[in-house]
Amino acid sequence: MAVAPENLTEVTELPAQGRTREDVMATLRTYKQGDCDYKSGHVWAYTYDPGKETAEVSKAAYMEFLSESALDPTAFPSVVRLEREVVRTIANLLRGDEHVVGNMTSGGTESILLALKTARDWAKAEKGITEPEVVLPQTVHPAFFKACAYFGIKPVVTPFDPKTFEADVDAMRAAITKNTCILVGSACGYAQGVIDPIEKIGALAQEHGLLCHVDGCVGGIHFSIMRRMGHDLPAFDFSVPGVTSISADMHKYGYAPKNASVVVYRNKGIRKYQIFSCSKSATYALINPTIMSTKSGGPMAGSWATLNFLGEEGYRDIITRAMDATKRLIDGINAIPGLYVLGKPQMCMFSFASDEINVFQLMDEMKTRGWTLQPQFSTELSPPNIHITVNQNAVDGVDEFLAELVKGVEAVRAQDKLDFALVRDQVRGLLDGLGVQEAAAQLQAMAGIDGSDLPTGMAMLNTVLDAVPNEIREALLVEFFNELYS
Ligand SMILES: Cc1ncc(COP(=O)(O)O)c(C=O)c1O
Repeated sequence: MAVAPENLTEVTELPAQGRTREDVMATLRTYKQGDCDYKSGHVWAYTYDPGKETAEVSKAAYMEFLSESALDPTAFPSVVRLEREVVRTIANLLRGDEHVVGNMTSGGTESILLALKTARDWAKAEKGITEPEVVLPQTVHPAFFKACAYFGIKPVVTPFDPKTFEADVDAMRAAITKNTCILVGSACGYAQGVIDPIEKIGALAQEHGLLCHVDGCVGGIHFSIMRRMGHDLPAFDFSVPGVTSISADMHKYGYAPKNASVVVYRNKGIRKYQIFSCSKSATYALINPTIMSTKSGGPMAGSWATLNFLGEEGYRDIITRAMDATKRLIDGINAIPGLYVLGKPQMCMFSFASDEINVFQLMDEMKTRGWTLQPQFSTELSPPNIHITVNQNAVDGVDEFLAELVKGVEAVRAQDKLDFALVRDQVRGLLDGLGVQEAAAQLQAMAGIDGSDLPTGMAMLNTVLDAVPNEIREALLVEFFNELYS
């Protein structure tokens, strides 16, 4: 979480006279000094590398349509055309027939929000459900919980298999009630890169007359092309009879510029519940297929350009490199004493854990060696772990990374161990009898947070966060962000 470098004064007043173009651009560039260097191949999360030439083409396309707006399709038919062509291309990759329809959104979260809002409104209109529920395997992305919070849907959370990290379909079956609108599966889950048993989830949805959403935000495009390359993957798309909607992000492994995702539905009869229209106000009649109203044509053009510049061949090349790097990383990590990869990842993203060292200390150690990794907290069924998102630009650095990881593990073994169980006991003692807000304040001090300033080493903070109950962790994070943006 980078804060502007100390040597820069914050600009908080509108300057009386405008600054020069050179000054504006030079100042903006200095703001990036504290950011992670995502082009270095040393950052194992957050960005998706299309390669230099593709990035240039998609950026040019984005800028070409920056000011065109999707607000009124009659004013900018070009933007509708771009959106229609991108959506159809993705629907075809996902083996959708001619009835499949969809829209472009600002990202995976918006696609998921819309899929759940659509399910809620579909269930009300078609089944009279007024207290909607969704069955969510615990491995789903938090965006599903956000959708529940925003749209008044009850999340019914089901466990996963702690060895394979696949959704437990029997538990999903048991969680269905008369209020259930939709079942969810991931292809794949972000945390471990594992595809859920979508055929079983789809069949369960059909059996109960429910909708079924597949979160293909990270995997939808990548797996579709892998399958065309002849890889043996479980079916996860519209070829599965019960699947009624899929989200697939252009701005992840579709390699398009942000903010671009696609949400597709099996037919218009379902998608119509996504669309909002309002003519009650004294202003213009509003019709929005997605959440945003005014939206730039940039992401549509950037996505269109990426798909058409790379073509299937380009995607195949990137996938081959990324999957090769992933295999070498997984084998290499499993060979390091004390570390092991969780589940059997099918994607070029995965996670690893340790029963011997604190993985958050390892993350800090790797940070000092110039490698950025992402922490993931434990659940009742899984240990604290480190996430790795693999990009094609990492392929040449795999051996270097693995060699550093070996040294990192040795260095952590030589340090005082920050013991998860011990910290958990201390935290429980500290929190005993406190309300959520008081507990969050106590923990801030314990974790070394001062306002929005984070400690240099994050191991203690992450270990404390791992130890606390969800509701306190969430309150603490809200406090932190409330400070950060003030
Ligand atoms: C599986 C999955 N679904 C949804 C999302 C949310 O996507 P976004 O960050 O684009 O809103 C993510 C983000 O990483 C994800 O991995």
